[in-house]
Order: sequence, then structure tokens, then C-alpha cells
Amino acid sequence: KNIAVFASGSGSNFQAIIDAVKNGELEANISLLVSDKVGAFAIERAKGEGIPFFAFTAKEYANKEEYEAEILKELKDKEIDFIILAGYMRLIGSTLLTEFEGKIINIHPSLLPAFPGKDAIGQALDAKVKVSGVTVHYVDAGMDTGPIIAQKPVEISEVETKESLQAKIHSIEHELYPAVIQKILQS
Ligand code: GRF
Repeated sequence: KNIAVFASGSGSNFQAIIDAVKNGELEANISLLVSDKVGAFAIERAKGEGIPFFAFTAKEYANKEEYEAEILKELKDKEIDFIILAGYMRLIGSTLLTEFEGKIINIHPSLLPAFPGKDAIGQALDAKVKVSGVTVHYVDAGMDTGPIIAQKPVEISEVETKESLQAKIHSIEHELYPAVIQKILQS
């Protein structure tokens, strides 16, 4: 199966997916990276790996329909089967949701439905919860609201900082996401 990864940032999850393909844990072709940030480090990773990428600036388009139409062209050109969101900071619109129904998944750094949206790690610390975690879910039109596929908890210690919790969450994500993607692609 051909997958496209969407990332706006550093792309450490993108890298974990690349590594899982290389070591055989994930049987997939990473055929495209899509990024809405032309300076995203994820793009450097794609270049380094020889993975084609499509980078765009949303404000250069009249609306979401217009830039998603461009993305859709790229996805069709690469015969993409699944869209994997990995730190993509935009809501997916009806253009892509309709064409890829049930074929878009996301990873979120909390135990949804707790702490959806931006800065889930900061939200968990502010709420002083003792446990947070990671969720992989199907994407629908809402913000982090689609059906849950997998979750893993993380304990929050008395001395937790944003950096330390982020590091714990990342290391869980990097194991969990490739494994869940593999299951979904093979089912
Ligand atoms: C991850 O924590 C993911 O859960 C969230 O955005 C972050 C992306 O990190 N959706 P990275 O760019 O993969 O390092």
C-alpha cells in the first residue's frame, strides 16, 4: 500500500515511520510527504530519504477547498491508499475526507477525548492529571474526534516538565504509530 504522511513540524513521527519501513516492521511505500510549512524539518527528512514532497502555504490559496484540490492531485498522482497525519496542524476538509473516507489516521498526544486540539501536553500539565498518553484515531471533520484505534497511557510524575513529558510521549508515539499503521494497512 502507498501512504502519504502529512506533517507541519519536526517530523519525528515521520522519521519513525521511515525507520519502521526500512527495518521491515512496516510494509508500506511512503510515496509522499505533504507539509503546510515550507520550512518544516519534516521536509528536510523527506529530501534526505528521497521521498517526494508537496509543500504549500495555505494563505496563498483562497480557501481550504483550493489547497486540498492541489493535495488531492498529488495523492492521485502517487496512487495513495492511506493518509497518515503526523503533527499536521490543520483540520482536514471535506475534499480529502470524501475521497479518503476511513483512510485517514492521526496521532494525538493525550488520551482522547481528554485534551483535544493544540498543546495537549500543556493542557494535561495544567489540569494536573496523573496520567496522560497517546491516541491513534481515524480522522473525521472534528478536532481530534474520530473513532479511536489505539491508546497508551503515560504516567505524569511529581516533577514533570513540558519537555520531559513530551520526551516520554514521543518515545511511545514512535513505537505505537508504526505498529498501528502496519495493522491497519494489512487488515
Ligand atoms: C506529536 O506529538 C503528535 O502526537 C502531534 O504532533 C506531534 C508531532 O511531533 N499530533 P513530530 O513532528 O512527529 O515530532
